[in-house]
Amino acid sequence: MIEARGISKFYSVVNEKGLAEGLTAVLNVSLTIADGRIVSLLGPSGCGKSTFLEILAGLQAPTDGQIRIDGELVLEPLPSTRKEMEEYKRRYRFISPLANGVFTDRPKHDIAMIFQDYAVFPWMTAIQNVIFALNIRAADKKGSERPGRSEIRDKARFYLNKAGLSGMENKYPSQLSGGMRQRLALARALSVEPGIILMDEPFAAVDALQREKLQDDLLRLWGDAKAGGSPITIVMVSHDVQEAVFLSDEVVVFSPGPGGTIRNRIPVDAPRPRARTSPAIVDIQERILAILQYDINQESMCAI
Ligand SMILES: Nc1ncnc2c1ncn2[C@@H]1O[C@H](COP(=O)(O)OP(=O)(O)O)[C@@H](O)[C@H]1O
Ligand SMILES: [Mg+2]
Repeated sequence: MIEARGISKFYSVVNEKGLAEGLTAVLNVSLTIADGRIVSLLGPSGCGKSTFLEILAGLQAPTDGQIRIDGELVLEPLPSTRKEMEEYKRRYRFISPLANGVFTDRPKHDIAMIFQDYAVFPWMTAIQNVIFALNIRAADKKGSERPGRSEIRDKARFYLNKAGLSGMENKYPSQLSGGMRQRLALARALSVEPGIILMDEPFAAVDALQREKLQDDLLRLWGDAKAGGSPITIVMVSHDVQEAVFLSDEVVVFSPGPGGTIRNRIPVDAPRPRARTSPAIVDIQERILAILQYDINQESMCAI
């Protein structure tokens, strides 16, 4: 289970007059996501979706609030400079009576991430990209639990096939289409068999037809994992209402930013497999579009 409690993020930025200014990217977001669900974070650009997702992933610290995954606190990466380290220690000194636990027993969360801009290494072939991720996970395992080289290679090939990339193992990302590169990112994320996949507009840069195919494949792979007894929780940032509703068990609509807060939480109870044009799906899409439209109108009224 993912639990976000009272998450806020403030940035200090320098304005055009050279003065420091505060910017609220996320304001007091609390959200609980049960295991195995697909939840979309939807809202106009700039409303803090990516910031919130990065906080969920532990890639950056919230200014306020806490994230827990299966009860364990999510901590951002350890700082690299002395000054940042002092600030870090100050921030976490109240967490545990043994504050050192924050440095020594850092919980490892079972998360994989997929970004919009093909976060695959261009200098590695498709299979090398997947093997790279598997090797990182393998390094955490001890002795006889650690998989051997051929086991890792087989697993990489297995997930490339699953993601529809058989025959592409030895191609470099630059030799793949945009859709295929996202498939590679998907294969790499799935290969480590994570409990959670966080995606930031994963299909935004892919053309419409490819995009629908990728969505279908994502649902198939998610369903396979569930049927195999290791369900995957997916949290996906999107600004596409159709996509969010079609894929999700719940759509979390953010208010327009800056200062994104949760505007509405809309359950999508339609049974799976779903048809894109089924009345239940289309009805929810229209309700959400009406909410977004209302917010845009309110904003332009304010601007007058
Ligand atoms: N590192 C940063 N420093 C200052 N402002 C930032 C930073 N990252 C994001 N922001 C600002 O925070 C707000 C939310 O950004 P973001 O989370 O990227 O929104 P979204 O993903 O919904 O488009 C925006 O106004 C953005 O300009
Ligand atoms: Mg974003």
